[in-house]
Amino acid sequence: MPTVPVLTIDGPSGVGKGSVARIVAGKMGWHLLDSGAIYRGFALAAQSRNISFNDEPGLAKLAEKLDLRFESVEGQELLNVYLDGEEVSKELRTEQTAELASQLAVIAPLRAALLKKQQQFEQTPGLVADGRDMGTVVFPDAPYKIYLTASAEERAQRRLKQLQNSTNAGNISQILAEVKKRDERDANRKHSPLTPARDALIIDTTCLTIDEVIARVMALVEV
Ligand code: C5P
Repeated sequence: MPTVPVLTIDGPSGVGKGSVARIVAGKMGWHLLDSGAIYRGFALAAQSRNISFNDEPGLAKLAEKLDLRFESVEGQELLNVYLDGEEVSKELRTEQTAELASQLAVIAPLRAALLKKQQQFEQTPGLVADGRDMGTVVFPDAPYKIYLTASAEERAQRRLKQLQNSTNAGNISQILAEVKKRDERDANRKHSPLTPARDALIIDTTCLTIDEVIARVMALVEV
């Protein structure tokens, strides 16, 4: 068992992993890794530098020197994100950026280059890491693993609500189609596909409130 306790929370788009991870990390006083934000930040960096999505060596090189910084702001739910010193928090959270991130996330050398960056978040007193491959690839020895699921319709509703809180939202049928497309790509890619770790506790959150989900996760980590 690693010396730093790690809780991994994986699952498909819009399932609420980010909120659950943030609240549990706050309750435990642990660090937080939003690995999706790393993929999204990388997508913005590749786009702004006009690096072709076919240029795998170029993308891997960019991933190695990615200058992405997260900053928590008092009274604000979401972290501020800086790419090369410039704030990109809003662009980072759009559906377009999520789609670009999902297209890039199939590239193995890029995933390999981002692996160490993610593992560096493993610091005392503990870490909550959310994403798609936290329990399977990035922190396979984590003592606590959760996999959250929910119906695609419920996840699209949650994503719409989240987008309405932050930026221009779009409509529900469009979001449902986008969420399904991304999940399909994430679950069927060759490298680090979206799948529960064999030792993960699977929680179907379709009919649960966030407080109920948090209670189940806390029951796992608070021993
Ligand atoms: O979690 P989020 O929606 O921010 O992730 C955006 C995209 O980044 C996902 O659809 C997925 O393709 C990719 N991703 C990944 N592995 C992770 C986290 C995110 O492939 N650990």
